[in-house]
Amino acid sequence: MSNTFYITTPIYYVNDKPHIGHAYTTILADVLARFHRNLGFDTFFLTGLDEHGQKVQQAAAERNVDPQRHCDEMAPQFVELWEELHISNDDFIRTTEPRHKQVVQEFLQQVFDKGDIYKDEYKGLYSVSEERFITEKEAETGQFHDIRELLEKNYFFKMSDYQDQLIKYIEKHDTFIQPKHRKNEILGFLRQPLSDLCISRPKSRLNWGIELPFDEDYVTYVWFDALINYVTVTKYGTDDSSFKKWWPANYHLIGKDILTTHAVYWPTMLMSAGLPLPKSIFAHGWWLSDESKMSKSVGNVINPLDLIKEYGVDPVRYYLMREMVLGQDANFTLDSFIKRYNSDLANDFGNLLNRISTLIHKNYDGIVPHSRELTLDEKIIKDAAIELVSEIDGKIMNMKINEAIEDIMQFIRRINKYMEEQAPWKLVKENKDEAGRILYTAGESLRIGASLLSPVMPNRISILLEALNTGRSTEWGGLKSGSKIRDHQPLFPRIQV
Ligand code: MSP
Repeated sequence: MSNTFYITTPIYYVNDKPHIGHAYTTILADVLARFHRNLGFDTFFLTGLDEHGQKVQQAAAERNVDPQRHCDEMAPQFVELWEELHISNDDFIRTTEPRHKQVVQEFLQQVFDKGDIYKDEYKGLYSVSEERFITEKEAETGQFHDIRELLEKNYFFKMSDYQDQLIKYIEKHDTFIQPKHRKNEILGFLRQPLSDLCISRPKSRLNWGIELPFDEDYVTYVWFDALINYVTVTKYGTDDSSFKKWWPANYHLIGKDILTTHAVYWPTMLMSAGLPLPKSIFAHGWWLSDESKMSKSVGNVINPLDLIKEYGVDPVRYYLMREMVLGQDANFTLDSFIKRYNSDLANDFGNLLNRISTLIHKNYDGIVPHSRELTLDEKIIKDAAIELVSEIDGKIMNMKINEAIEDIMQFIRRINKYMEEQAPWKLVKENKDEAGRILYTAGESLRIGASLLSPVMPNRISILLEALNTGRSTEWGGLKSGSKIRDHQPLFPRIQV
């Protein structure tokens, strides 16, 4: 098995401030990247910005600034948000960077030289909001805004030539498009003839883009530019060993609304360029607010910064990861956030830590007691902890993040129950050794559960591990008898409603 792990988020349009939908995908990628780093994978995590195209040009025009300046002013908002959210990305690409322009032009030239690009007259409906030509049928659905009729000469990519090859590829590679219902959706889409893809815009209409290397009167279509970011950062064309090390990516994480571009346009572009396809494209659902998609025009957007200011970064990360079943939509409500926080974090998790550390402080001068010989009760717990670790690894590999978190919380609840049953607070008065064994077992279980949760809540878990005076590992025995535990602030104070 290859020891590298390369994961990407979509690159976000800079036409607007980042919202919780953007934050979600980036946190998800961060959690997966951290899990893989912990498992010893050489990991590369990419996010960035999609700065070209009509949407961005329009947003800049509305603000009366030139598009590059608009991008330069918007970019820090994303960078700062990712810092606030403790995003551990290894690179941050902006499509206006020279390194990217160079790769896009090389890519275009390659596809052109292969004979896969031709010029033709085009007449059709164009949706500015989606940045693509749409069919009459699509226009009738009412889902597209800002529709114009256009007649112009453009360059086309022979996408249709790759239709059969793509269908065969998808059928043969079961995990290429995930979850399964998205794979079926794309196969359904490919049952109809695939048309060629218009990949240029005349500069007279739109000049905010990368110039075609074979015709200076045109810029390339924003998606033909944006998708290539995923290979740009691997140093495609300039450093072959780096390219081979990272490409193909393990995961492109995307929202379901950009599935066709990733699962049809991108693979056929790569086929034409003679490059391997990404191992997996994973489409998640939407965060809804009052059952409808958050969007600027509806005015129901949740600002992640407000939320983290009020409740802290880690609880927000926890909620987003715990609440969404990957692949399905989820509803964001403050009410469910507070319930989830209070029950899982304040009650189950926070209480266990408080109980253990209070008892150790009070009865053992803050020194972790000796584990002694484990009795059957403790052996069962130790085995459960070991089993939990391998179960979580499997769930993460299979993108079942919410289930993995729930399993960890169930384990924590079980340890709380064990504490209730054993009542070390009573036992300590008669038998300090036995009570010590129980506290050690509970503390070590908490430490393992916390270590498993650290990719989700990196900051608070490291405070917890510091309080226990231990490091992060998932092997039994990391808690050291005889070491001194430290004082700590309550990790997850209850939110009063
Ligand atoms: N620039 C393109 C992507 C190019 S990738 C080569 C783009 N940008 S975007 O900023 O509009 O959206 C980026 C991602 O945010 C999409 O995956 C989209 O699904 C996601 N989300 C936008 N709103 C969302 C929610 N309400 N919930 C979850 N994700 C959502 O598309």
